[in-house]
Amino acid sequence: MNVKSAVSMRILVVGSGGREHAIIWSLSRSSGEHRLYCAPGNPGTVALATNVSIAADHVPDLVEFAISESIDLCVVGPEVPLVMGLADRLRDAGILVVGPSAAAARLEGSKAFSKAFMQRNGIPTAAHRTFQGLEHAEALSYVRQVGAPIVIKASGLAAGKGAVVCMTMAEAEDALSAMMQEHVFGEAASEVVVEEFMEGEEASLFALCDGSDYVLLSPAQDHKRIGEGDTGPNTGGMGAYCPAPVLSEALLESACSSVIEPTLAGMAREGQPYSGILYVGLMLTPDGPKVVEYNCRLGDPETQPVLMLLESDAVELFTAAAAGELKTFDVQVASDSAACVVLASEGYPGSYPKGRRISGVEAAGALPGVEVFQAGTSLTPDGLETSGGRVMAVTARAPELKEALAMCYEAVELISFEGMQYRRDIGRKGLAHLTPA
Ligand code: AMP
Ligand code: GLY
Repeated sequence: MNVKSAVSMRILVVGSGGREHAIIWSLSRSSGEHRLYCAPGNPGTVALATNVSIAADHVPDLVEFAISESIDLCVVGPEVPLVMGLADRLRDAGILVVGPSAAAARLEGSKAFSKAFMQRNGIPTAAHRTFQGLEHAEALSYVRQVGAPIVIKASGLAAGKGAVVCMTMAEAEDALSAMMQEHVFGEAASEVVVEEFMEGEEASLFALCDGSDYVLLSPAQDHKRIGEGDTGPNTGGMGAYCPAPVLSEALLESACSSVIEPTLAGMAREGQPYSGILYVGLMLTPDGPKVVEYNCRLGDPETQPVLMLLESDAVELFTAAAAGELKTFDVQVASDSAACVVLASEGYPGSYPKGRRISGVEAAGALPGVEVFQAGTSLTPDGLETSGGRVMAVTARAPELKEALAMCYEAVELISFEGMQYRRDIGRKGLAHLTPA
């Protein structure tokens, strides 16, 4: 492989969300003199990198760009290009990549695969059965036998919308017919996973892996629902904080030894060594941590606070992971806390208007300890406007979670656009764990 000196590298980040803005930001803080590109990027990344107008899922164009621009290292943000084989194509061209092969990305791309993988490797997860698209009657009979609550999932990628937690039998029957008879998720539900409902608090673990070894980034908690108090429909994530106080040292160790290590060992044994980010969605059940899902990438918005706590040089860290050299890498994560509050468009996660003028981003980002990571924004001759559902993530780092949250909300006060919505209770669960009863 063509590992240049880590002092001066040409680095391509693929994606256009808040996660990718945060990745670019952390790379830009490296002590080396690097050339950063973001494809396609957003108005936030353009301040730190050269935006390249290639969509994140245009694999051949991305590969051609990486070769022609002599890219040394590529960090892939979203899952879709990984499942399509971007990492394989780049590695074939001798380029270092943070991201798994298409075969290894099946841990996210196929729940049927990941559930069977966990079962054969003894990794704790909800009991399940997988049904083929034509087996609606069999699935229905299984669901009736188990009863509600129960969880029904499209096996393939469904933009985070393919899991339905059904509290009643009527909901379960509706979810099955939507997936297996009305085909609302199309191909993603050509296989359907039916699984046991797990009770507990959720937390996200991020392991950066190099095929055999891994380092842990800060464990985080996301806020998936649109409404305060975890109400209303699911979103891509409305805020996050890290570390997650709910994950005690003991729980973290148990999750590493019962999930992360057997996952890496199992993938290697099965001939698909896992290199890249392994994001494990955990449910902290009374029986110990169990896997809700694997993702083959960093979380959005968890990445924003997680990377704010990274003390190691991100270029050196990602290069070591991509080159299979994590064994000797001593990753440094600050003992501070970080949090982020997502500002979303009116109507999100349903349909939302675009083109609303945004003000205050510079003032908010100028507050000490605060970074504003952009996502659904576009820069027009009239200034910055909204162009997506999740518009930006206001992120802050401080010695204590309470302070980091207060700094986020102080910064949020400075930003405005018509219809702006955000949750005012980000981190409340984390604070409750920190406050002695
Ligand atoms: P997934 O797409 O598999 O991550 O599921 C999306 C969300 O549904 C998770 O973050 C959980 O909140 C919930 N969920 C998924 N599977 C289960 C389960 N077996 N028991 C309880 N909640 C679940
Ligand atoms: N924040 C959840 C995800 O990135 O999947």
